[in-house]
Amino acid sequence: MTPAPGVLHEAARRRTFAVISHPDAGKSTLTEALALHAEAITEAGAVHGKGGRRGVVSDWLDMERARGISITSAALQFVYRDTVINLVDTPGHADFSEDTYRVLTAVDAAVMLLDAAKGLEPQTLKLFEVCRHRGIPVLTFINKWDRVGREALQLCDELTDRIGLQPMPLNWPVGPSGRFRGLRECATDRFIRFRRTPGGATAAAEEYLDASAAQRAEGADWVTAGEECELLESFGGGFDAAEFSAGKATPVLFGAAVLNTGVRQLLDVLVEHAPAAAPRADRDGVPRPLDSPLSGFVFKVQTGMDPAHRDQVAFLRVCSGRFERGMQTTVTRTGRTFATKYVQQMFGRDRTTVDIAYPGDVIGLVNATALQVGDTLHDGSGRVEYPPFPAFAPEHFAVARPRELDRSKHFRRGIAQLEQEGVVQVLRSDRRGDAAPVLAAVGPMQFDVAAHRLRSEFGVEVVLDRLPYTVARRIVNSSPPSLGDGRGEAVRRDRDGVLIALFRDRTALGTEQRLQPGLELEPLAAGA
Ligand code: G4P
Repeated sequence: MTPAPGVLHEAARRRTFAVISHPDAGKSTLTEALALHAEAITEAGAVHGKGGRRGVVSDWLDMERARGISITSAALQFVYRDTVINLVDTPGHADFSEDTYRVLTAVDAAVMLLDAAKGLEPQTLKLFEVCRHRGIPVLTFINKWDRVGREALQLCDELTDRIGLQPMPLNWPVGPSGRFRGLRECATDRFIRFRRTPGGATAAAEEYLDASAAQRAEGADWVTAGEECELLESFGGGFDAAEFSAGKATPVLFGAAVLNTGVRQLLDVLVEHAPAAAPRADRDGVPRPLDSPLSGFVFKVQTGMDPAHRDQVAFLRVCSGRFERGMQTTVTRTGRTFATKYVQQMFGRDRTTVDIAYPGDVIGLVNATALQVGDTLHDGSGRVEYPPFPAFAPEHFAVARPRELDRSKHFRRGIAQLEQEGVVQVLRSDRRGDAAPVLAAVGPMQFDVAAHRLRSEFGVEVVLDRLPYTVARRIVNSSPPSLGDGRGEAVRRDRDGVLIALFRDRTALGTEQRLQPGLELEPLAAGA
């Protein structure tokens, strides 16, 4: 098959990344500021709906709005300096780790966003560990420099001391946090002075001053910025692209997303240094050339994004080839064809039809009830399969049943849908089948989402009885000995029919293993 025209060129101009941060560090604000700089929007607030302006990005669900957190994921695409930026939104809450992990499989780089007053926070650390595990290069943006916070050097030290990442500052703040004057560009020694715009609603005006003019204007603050920058450089903090790609060092930038300062510099660094879409390894570990025929994988499935039409959208990360709307594709798992008649790009709540996409792009396949998270799609000319997502061990369990018995059919349909989307894992008992399944979650908030979705989309009030288990193990024996009657353990089957044993805690697990040496158990996920 001849390579699709222009695929390599188009892939080279893609930057697909996610922002990883702790809630409140300013991810929504930064997302908006990035889009603002790329002129994808004209006024901050258009994406996230802050300050009473229209909300777009990820507040499809009423519950999200009520809680002010982002549960769903979307991808924004915009063009900056002839580079196509795909910004994949990660769910903000710690409970949604499974979903977040999947989202991070779709990106080629991450921006670690830190609050200057708080530094590395728990959720950021968790997400960073995923990036490290997946070999995703990480850029660091230290936000909220307009507010009093920690010292720049201290924040950089934290990167080295706590996560072993060598900080490589590309710019340095002039003026301590809370008295932010602008940025010293480390490579050029230029001063970028910001002038605030009212409310930060438009891109901040920038002035460039050479070093001597900067020194005259800023005096000691300019000198301190230079000294601190040099200090870090002398400790190995000079920019090194190879170390960045290898995940050993992180370019560091400073700014204040709410004032749109330092944001253009971040975009420039993404364009100049973040990796472009590259060949992805398939299930056998063989990288698939970018210009081979179309392939991609589904990393997120979502229903109820448009309250007017109950549809299901599958988000596909394109990995090779040129996607054209209307193509027939093949779903590797089922061998069935999937017609791509309706394909959209989400810009928050707004959707635009996508006709063509290239490696690195994220597209929303509409009416995708035949697709599951983890599915590979290809053009049918040869089988392709991308690696399965890692499983995460659930630690929270609850029996679910409909409050009204006459809603049982809807309940079953709803549970099947949530299982397909990966909102929760579903375990069934041989005796009770679908009537009262056990929902298994990595974080308890997944239960709230499940209950909300069952109510709003399937009209089912669900009763959830929390179970006292915290540890799950796959039973390897084909005919397992009976388990722990009276010791509080339970056995259920997962969606593949595999028997899963549930234990109160690790002590109960240890007791069972001692009492039944023939019982072979294995963790559901690495490290569990
Ligand atoms: P998140 O998505 O990471 O949860 O954070 P979000 O953008 O919602 O920002 C959290 C809070 O931090 C918001 O304030 C936001 O305005 C503020 N913020 C973001 N970036 C900066 C910055 O550079 N400097 C300062 N000083 N604040 C920043 P809020 O009071 O919760 O909301 P709002 O009333 O300002 O909208």
